[in-house]
Amino acid sequence: MDRSSTPAMFQTMEVVFVIVLLGLVSVGRVDCRQAIKLNSEYPAISCRKHSASLTEYGGIGDGKTSNTKAFKKAIDDLSKFSSDGGAQLIIPPGKWLTGSFNLTSHFTLYLQKDAVILASQDAKDFPLIPVLPSYGRGRDAPGDGLRYNSFIHGTNLTDVIITGANGTIDGQGQNWWHRYHHNKLNYTRPTLIEILYSSHIQISNLTLLNSPQWFVHPVYSSNIIIQKLTILAPYDPVSPNTDGINPDSSSNVLIEDCYIVSGDDCISLKSGWDQYGIKVGIPTQHVIIRRLTCISPDSALIALGSEMSGGVQDIRIEDTVAINTESGIRIKTAIGRGGYVKDIFVRNVTMHTMKYVFWMTGMYGSHPDNNTDPKALPVIQNINYNDIRAENVTMSANLAGMKGNQFTGICISNVNIGLSAKPKELQWNCTDIAGFTSGVTPKPCALLPDKAAGKDFSCHFPTDRLPIEDVKMNTCSY
Ligand SMILES: *[C@@H]1O[C@H](CO)[C@@H](O)[C@H](O)[C@H]1NC(C)=O
Ligand SMILES: *[C@@H]1O[C@H](CO)[C@@H](O)[C@H](O)[C@H]1NC(C)=O
Ligand SMILES: *[C@@H]1O[C@H](CO)[C@@H](O)[C@H](O)[C@H]1NC(C)=O
Ligand SMILES: *[C@@H]1O[C@H](CO)[C@@H](O)[C@H](O)[C@H]1NC(C)=O
Ligand SMILES: *[C@@H]1O[C@H](CO)[C@@H](O)[C@H](O)[C@H]1NC(C)=O
Ligand SMILES: *[C@@H]1O[C@H](CO)[C@@H](O)[C@H](O)[C@H]1NC(C)=O
Ligand SMILES: *[C@@H]1O[C@H](CO)[C@@H](O)[C@H](O)[C@H]1NC(C)=O
Ligand SMILES: *[C@@H]1O[C@H](CO)[C@@H](O)[C@H](O)[C@H]1NC(C)=O
Ligand SMILES: *[C@@H]1O[C@H](CO)[C@@H](O)[C@H](O)[C@H]1NC(C)=O
Repeated sequence: MDRSSTPAMFQTMEVVFVIVLLGLVSVGRVDCRQAIKLNSEYPAISCRKHSASLTEYGGIGDGKTSNTKAFKKAIDDLSKFSSDGGAQLIIPPGKWLTGSFNLTSHFTLYLQKDAVILASQDAKDFPLIPVLPSYGRGRDAPGDGLRYNSFIHGTNLTDVIITGANGTIDGQGQNWWHRYHHNKLNYTRPTLIEILYSSHIQISNLTLLNSPQWFVHPVYSSNIIIQKLTILAPYDPVSPNTDGINPDSSSNVLIEDCYIVSGDDCISLKSGWDQYGIKVGIPTQHVIIRRLTCISPDSALIALGSEMSGGVQDIRIEDTVAINTESGIRIKTAIGRGGYVKDIFVRNVTMHTMKYVFWMTGMYGSHPDNNTDPKALPVIQNINYNDIRAENVTMSANLAGMKGNQFTGICISNVNIGLSAKPKELQWNCTDIAGFTSGVTPKPCALLPDKAAGKDFSCHFPTDRLPIEDVKMNTCSY
């Protein structure tokens, strides 16, 4: 991981060095093949023995010709190498229009600088696939158990990389948003990138634009590294449900150095919906999110839920910034969800222009059907927030647990909240919660008394490292 956090500077120096070397070629007969190779290096969890360009499969990057067949041919062909060192598909500069396509194992999709993959706007270019078992139905429409395949999709895979020199994947979601607003969807919109039942995934150094709905959605998957993504969609209500990154029933996930502007939550951690999520029972756990910058005027920096019926636990969030965002790290759940949200650790968050710094609700509502079990109550406990600075805030905290089912073990320390010109009169509105605070201004509600009374105290943050933080990056080339 250490290498991956330094390469921008390191590689720039290498490029300069390469240019100097190339300048010397005529004089010193330096092996220039070696030098050119350095120019196309990238960090990845695995390198590939085989390499091909989309153009070798008939791809045309004019922004108009459909490349659906070229992508299918390329990936079908390169999948033959999955047990022979793997393969990478290079997308050169250009605009590559295509319908939905599926990935394969031991495979890298590499987008060169100025490569843009454009999603078709025709719903026919997105096959219908079964809804997720932990949701029981499509979110936009029940869809008779079916939903649209994501734009880029993978099921039952291992060792898959989507990366590049900051190339772009543009979901061209405008038509889908329009269909959503005008109630013209018979099936749930496609997500941009969805990976199911898979492990060892890297998605990095890309710009993702205008997803039809959620952008990056790993489900029932593990060992996932997401780095250096720029994710952009217009604010709500233009682009409904365009969450940035939604780990869903997935474990051992690292998300770092991302910049997200979206029409919904920048990140949302989920694990299924009511009785369907309870039945599948796969939690989202062991997740670290750091160095995230988020702008989301109508949603959260990071949401936990509302679909959390398989449980959400051991989540570590640090060094993040929210600007012009509705709320910080938000917990949302409802009667009938079951499951839990516990062992949540947050430290060092800066916020500018927020409606709420702290927001939790046990009455979120929204159910898949009428078969929700009213006795399935979620457990919310051990939620820790430390070192938070916020300015231009309307309301410090709106914390509502459930009657007869308190949210417990809430710890809030070292928090300084500056209020907006027209703040709410009631700054801390707390019901059905329990916990304590230390060094928090403005003064918290009576349900969160100051326990440390002037002593230096910080809410807990784990000191161990998650295995995903220690994954070695290789220097690969194409
Ligand atoms: C992708 O794979 C799914 C099965 O997971 C299949 O139903 C779908 O048709 C495939 N999509 C494409 C574009 O081939
Ligand atoms: C994924 O694997 C499961 C279990 O082996 C299998 O039942 C299912 O058909 C596979 N799905 C796809 C799309 O390959
Ligand atoms: C990411 O892309 C940028 C822009 O092309 C490039 O300069 C940088 O080296 C890449 N970083 C990584 C880690 O691949
Ligand atoms: C990638 O491109 C976006 C948008 O063009 C830019 O804001 C971002 O800084 C770039 N990221 C890297 C790593 O070069
Ligand atoms: C949705 O279903 C209705 C009724 O079956 C049909 O008339 C309409 O064409 C369908 N719309 C789309 C976009 O498939
Ligand atoms: C807190 O986060 C900010 C921005 O993400 C970072 O620049 C700063 O170094 C962090 N502070 C500490 C003490 O880690
Ligand atoms: C403060 O927040 C208000 C909205 O509550 C916004 O209109 C205003 O521009 C913000 N001021 C600054 C200095 O960011
Ligand atoms: C739930 O029940 C109500 C009232 O009986 C009905 O109007 C509604 O359509 C049902 N909702 C679903 C999702 O089945
Ligand atoms: C405080 O929270 C309770 C419970 O959610 C809600 O009913 C009430 O309207 C809130 N009061 C204010 C002033 O926001």
